[in-house]
Amino acid sequence: MKATAVAPANIAFIKYWGKTDEELRLPLNDSLSMNLSGSYTTTTVEFSPAFTADDTRLVDGEFSQREILRVGDALDEIRAKAGIRLHARVYTKNSFPKGAGAAASASGFAALTVAAFAAAGCKLSQKELTIFARLGSGSACRSIPDGFVLWEKGTTSDDSFAYSLCPHTHWDIRDILVIVDSRMKKVSTTDGMKTVSTSPLLAARLKAIPARMEGIKQALAQKDFARLGEIAEEDCLDMHRVMQTQAPPLQYWNDSTRMIMDAVKTWRKAGLPVYFTVDAGSNVHVLCEGRDEGHVLEKVRALAGIESVILNKPAPGAHRIDNHLF
Ligand code: DP6
Repeated sequence: MKATAVAPANIAFIKYWGKTDEELRLPLNDSLSMNLSGSYTTTTVEFSPAFTADDTRLVDGEFSQREILRVGDALDEIRAKAGIRLHARVYTKNSFPKGAGAAASASGFAALTVAAFAAAGCKLSQKELTIFARLGSGSACRSIPDGFVLWEKGTTSDDSFAYSLCPHTHWDIRDILVIVDSRMKKVSTTDGMKTVSTSPLLAARLKAIPARMEGIKQALAQKDFARLGEIAEEDCLDMHRVMQTQAPPLQYWNDSTRMIMDAVKTWRKAGLPVYFTVDAGSNVHVLCEGRDEGHVLEKVRALAGIESVILNKPAPGAHRIDNHLF
């Protein structure tokens, strides 16, 4: 009863920020993302009658008590569905810094869900897997399907799920993740979202999202990079305005974040098709097409104050592999 899965992180072009149901992680709005090839989590799960308690470990790092409890809750949901009562050993390894807005919870809960159901010998549809991943972390449901993924907010747990709009091979886009701070973010996404309704700008964002979603879907179908980039940037800035006007205000950016966003705008004015998006952290995702990768990488690497750069292409969703972590 042992299985291993790999799952990519994902970057949202239309972001999820706010819930209608905390427990079930039902979101306020639909969101759309791309899986990231260079930022992924590998997780091995084993269930055994020989284990007397769950044993959850992060290889090359340490989980907080809160994170261990969250994994335990996800395991309980999976055990209930699979009809088993055995304890689990869970080892997890990230290819990127945890908690720095690089969406470790998305890849983490996607990998855990796929590995745990496989270890339990329970075969679910992809739709059901996205629902269980969502219960661990909302954005994790988008790391299960292939490539470019839509998460429909739904109205109940059963109809809030994610599916692939286009496979990862559809479009040769790059997400150059510029790490400016690899420490844990101060306010988790789960906590940050709790006060979203205090922002006077929330209603306007929710109203704007359906048109943005239509625009991005068309941009994807037509491979219109400027349109995709403009909408992704607009929605990112809108989400951060909501965050910044919540009570208490949430400020995830730092000086380096602002400097990189300004640099991207300057490069664009000079004719380079390049855009940015930022999640709940200070690191910046620089978006471009594959043909401009070399040029953009050169410019990004020349910036002052950056810790590291992770190059991402569109990636397949979560899947099993044969090599176990223990
Ligand atoms: C800003 O999925 O981490 O990255 O459901 O509380 O675990 P929880 O939140 P999480 O939120 C991600 C927020 C975001 C935007 C996005 O990825 O859509």
